[in-house]
Amino acid sequence: MIFDSHAHYDDEQFDEDREKVISELKENGIIGVLNCGASLQGARNSVRLSEKYDFFYAAVGLHPEFADKVDEKVINELKELSKNNKVRAIGEIGLDYYYEENPPREVQKKAFIRQMELAKELNLPVVIHDRDAHGDTLEIMRSFPEVKGVVHCFSGSVEFAKECLKLGYYIGFTGVVTFKNAKKAVEVASEVPLDRILVETDCPYMAPVPNRGKRNRSEYIEYVIEKIADIKSILPINVSEQTIQNAKDLLKI
Ligand code: NI
Repeated sequence: MIFDSHAHYDDEQFDEDREKVISELKENGIIGVLNCGASLQGARNSVRLSEKYDFFYAAVGLHPEFADKVDEKVINELKELSKNNKVRAIGEIGLDYYYEENPPREVQKKAFIRQMELAKELNLPVVIHDRDAHGDTLEIMRSFPEVKGVVHCFSGSVEFAKECLKLGYYIGFTGVVTFKNAKKAVEVASEVPLDRILVETDCPYMAPVPNRGKRNRSEYIEYVIEKIADIKSILPINVSEQTIQNAKDLLKI
């Protein structure tokens, strides 16, 4: 059984067959999915999916790619959306310095901080996206000691992971941990205790080996679980059970 702690089934890549895919998930042992908004429309659609499917939950927030859209009107709508009982987190939010076309760093930081304030106010955990911005991300996480959450698709070092653990965060692993060149992710998975690990698709992206490059879906997390079990020399069932418990603890399910 699997809890997918980070998915985007609202993505247009699922427009053709979304209902079919989601009904298959349930048959295939997916017991929970946290669908994360990236844009404001994505946040709205995540809430809709969580209303429609009992095993879906929603995170509402704006990805750093859309940081320049975060104003008080947007914050108020996120606040309204989060009144829905299926909304269990603010996300995905954070910093992404990888793509040059993303909004300027100062704009990203401001949007990240504003959404961290919202999470604090609403007493909700956060789903953090950090790409090539580890130092600034950590600084902002540290300035909100009351806020907990997950650093999703973790791409930092073991040292950075340990700082996140100290602040009470979970570490999220995608298919990246199965990639041949995933030395860093493998090191992090071996160091992070099992009770602080979440597994995720980030679908439609990040499909694990042997499905790398294909459209991702929650069943493929099986390969992420197998890889983590292998790294830790334990049974996949133990990884499966503990990561389900971790997701339920974080999202208060
Ligand atoms: Ni994502």
